[in-house]
Amino acid sequence: MCGIIGYVGNNNASKIILDGLKMLQYRGYDSVGVAFHGGQNVNIYKCVGKVEDLENSLGNIPSFTCGFGHTRWATHGSVSYKNAHPHDFGNVVLVHNGIIENYKDLIEEFNLKDILKTTCDSEVAAALLNYYYDGNPFSAINKLIKKIEGTYSFVIMFKDIPDSLFAFRKVSPIVVCKKEREVLLASDLMPLSLMSDRYFVLPEESILFVNKNKTTLYDLNNNVIESELKTIDWKADQFDKKDFPFFMEKEIVEQPDCVYKTINKRIVDGLISFNGDNFDESILKEIDSVEIIACGTSYHAGLVGKAMFEKHALVKTNVSLASEFIYAPKVFSKKPLFIGISQSGETIDTIEAIERVKNLGYPTLGIINVKDSSLSRICDYTLYTDAGPEIAVASTKAYTCQLALLYLLAFSCGLQRKVLDENKVRSLIDELLKLPELMKQTIDKRNEYHLLTKNYLNHKDLFLIGRGLDYLTLLEGALKIKEITYIHAEAYASGELKHGPIALIENSMPVLALITQDDLILKESSNIKETRARGAKVLVIIKENLLPQLNQNIDTIVIPNCIDDFVVFVGVVILQILAYYIAIDKGYDVDKPRNLAKVVTVE
Ligand code: F6R
Repeated sequence: MCGIIGYVGNNNASKIILDGLKMLQYRGYDSVGVAFHGGQNVNIYKCVGKVEDLENSLGNIPSFTCGFGHTRWATHGSVSYKNAHPHDFGNVVLVHNGIIENYKDLIEEFNLKDILKTTCDSEVAAALLNYYYDGNPFSAINKLIKKIEGTYSFVIMFKDIPDSLFAFRKVSPIVVCKKEREVLLASDLMPLSLMSDRYFVLPEESILFVNKNKTTLYDLNNNVIESELKTIDWKADQFDKKDFPFFMEKEIVEQPDCVYKTINKRIVDGLISFNGDNFDESILKEIDSVEIIACGTSYHAGLVGKAMFEKHALVKTNVSLASEFIYAPKVFSKKPLFIGISQSGETIDTIEAIERVKNLGYPTLGIINVKDSSLSRICDYTLYTDAGPEIAVASTKAYTCQLALLYLLAFSCGLQRKVLDENKVRSLIDELLKLPELMKQTIDKRNEYHLLTKNYLNHKDLFLIGRGLDYLTLLEGALKIKEITYIHAEAYASGELKHGPIALIENSMPVLALITQDDLILKESSNIKETRARGAKVLVIIKENLLPQLNQNIDTIVIPNCIDDFVVFVGVVILQILAYYIAIDKGYDVDKPRNLAKVVTVE
């Protein structure tokens, strides 16, 4: 988690670093700090809170040309001023993203207990680096790398080496952008896009040295190595909130366009082609199962993907939570295809799970939003979603774009395996291409849905009930509601209510029901009656053609008619909107919910 940025060049480092930190804040926002090398000494400023708080407290600080900053999501050590980065130890000042797993052993081995000022694993690294430093930064860093275990990215200043930064990493990313006499490095591409569209990924097992005159990359044997320059696809203005009050609303509104782009560029002559992704879809012919691995929202997309693979390609599909996958017994079919789904491509659990199966020799495919992220570098093949930068912590457009790719894959797999013929695939694609317009119609009505959320503001609990695909959609809706409104929202498969959860229904308890599947209306209607009989206040989100069969005097949100398999795209948009308005009306910072971070790089 945590965001890191560093700058060396002729411009005002403090402005560049503070602006960059604002863009990285979605990675963590409990405390923040910066350090600037002033030639003779290093100036450190930090505070508990957000970048804006630090900026306000700084006032007019002198202009520096070398510095770095850090926005924290606490792992080791509480949220406090002293635990905020940068960490200052002897000759060393550093910022760290990741976890030093063996920090306790190192404290023992190097007798650091009485000299550490914080409870952070990161300070242990600073102390050790200072211990090894004898004027040669490279040999000190080399010794540190050999000693520490875990995942990390570090940016470092040595107090006696002015105007210079050093960086190295393992798993946790650092990307670097270089212009004439100016270098910017960061945990991800967002801040780099302010400077240039060319960048390189800092390789593992290398040490980066930058000052105004040179940017040099060394391997661990001190040989100079080259890095491959890449181009940032995303434009700087995509990181702008425009006129929206929150990024989340902007990202909800962007969904029709993103979903359209994700689908449309893979349609060639009316059929699906992944040639542009360098993925040969004939691989889908050979497989005998699909194993999807993901976390959170991406996992929920995987559950819908499973339904599509099993229905349209008749291929057995399992979906695993990445954090659980490593503990599960490894019984796979003979020819599985592993699919890792991740918006960020940096979720450590997903990375580790996919790395494991890749090492066992299985083919791996990533469905990823962030280009050149760590997961994409591990997977044999990557299909990129066209969601563009997703900045709000709660994922919205990445989810619907992940669904779009999973649907395309499932249909393509069905064709390869001769479960579907070309005509059927063409008609499914036609239906898929209608979705962006249906999503747009729904999003355009968002102010109407807002009125219906007033009932939920004062409740601590909320039930979401549905069956089949509706249940899967509600799992994602419940996650959205939990993470940004802090209401305890649980999705239940309606058929399960009587097996336990109905015991929790009490007078005036809010229940949200989703009914979009033609063959489930009667059963679902009965479930709604059962909850109402126990005093629940039910709001039903229902597909238009099913409304007459509901036949209950009840609040409804009507979804435009479309084929049952595709309604997920529209249903989830309504749930995102409801969550968004509840959170806004409760006065929360929707984009930065408490305790969360967008990129989860710790297990
Ligand atoms: C929820 C949310 C998280 C992420 C999860 C996986 O809104 O954003 O649940 O979906 O942390 O992240 P990625 O997709 O980046 O692997």
